[in-house]
Amino acid sequence: MEIIIAKDAEQAAAVVADRFEEVLHARGEDGAVLGLATGSSPVLTYRELISRHREQGLSFAHARAFLLDEYIGLSADHEQSYHRFIRDTFTGHVDIPDELVLSPDGEAPDPRAEAVRYDASIGEAGGVDIQILGIGANGHIGFNEPTSSFGSRTRVKTLTEQTVRDNARFFSSSDEVPIHVLTQGLETIREARRIVLIATGEGKARAVRDMVEGPVSAACPASILQMHPAVTVVVDESAARDLTHADYYRFIQSQKDRLDS
Ligand code: GLP
Repeated sequence: MEIIIAKDAEQAAAVVADRFEEVLHARGEDGAVLGLATGSSPVLTYRELISRHREQGLSFAHARAFLLDEYIGLSADHEQSYHRFIRDTFTGHVDIPDELVLSPDGEAPDPRAEAVRYDASIGEAGGVDIQILGIGANGHIGFNEPTSSFGSRTRVKTLTEQTVRDNARFFSSSDEVPIHVLTQGLETIREARRIVLIATGEGKARAVRDMVEGPVSAACPASILQMHPAVTVVVDESAARDLTHADYYRFIQSQKDRLDS
């Protein structure tokens, strides 16, 4: 794992945006397949990408995107649906074709069949080139809560009480947070060719430590990323607080900066 400790959330977002930009350029007119996430963690990255689009002409015209997850029971245009969130905060402000921004259908009459269809559609598009991830306070990625199988694919999941509480801030009350979701599985996420996880704030410090330095265990679903060959974890100082080897990660980074300059 590559661990980058940024001085603050803005710098962390710029690092992640750089990675997206590299992939967009590398794929060019072949069209990058972007894996997008919701939650507050990627918002500054999306803002940075929007401003690069507006000010430097960074184009998403050949790209397509897949979302990680969706609440079951919310319509695509519901204010709190992830489908709506990603358009409002990111894709609606750049030149990616809207019909190529795909998410699981939270209103599908048969959610299990929808999960299988959605999972297959990612493979049919050639797989994800770069996946951005946040992390839940309990170590979840997407909505793969603790004890999710490392072999899981897109499926229906039930949220933990903690996740319902954490996500209640986006709803008027926790009673309104759906408890069932469709989420890409851990195996599905692991198939992305590159993964960039962003975590900021001390509320994520413990999950970051368990993910990076803890045992690979379903108790911390994000720890599966230790098995992926191209993962970058970008954290700010607060989220890095509990990392035992923080000085080593800083040392590696300073050596890379020297090689690059
Ligand atoms: C939700 C999403 C995750 C996200 C997590 C953390 O559960 N399904 O993809 O990483 O929230 O959210 P935040 O970034 O707001 O802390």
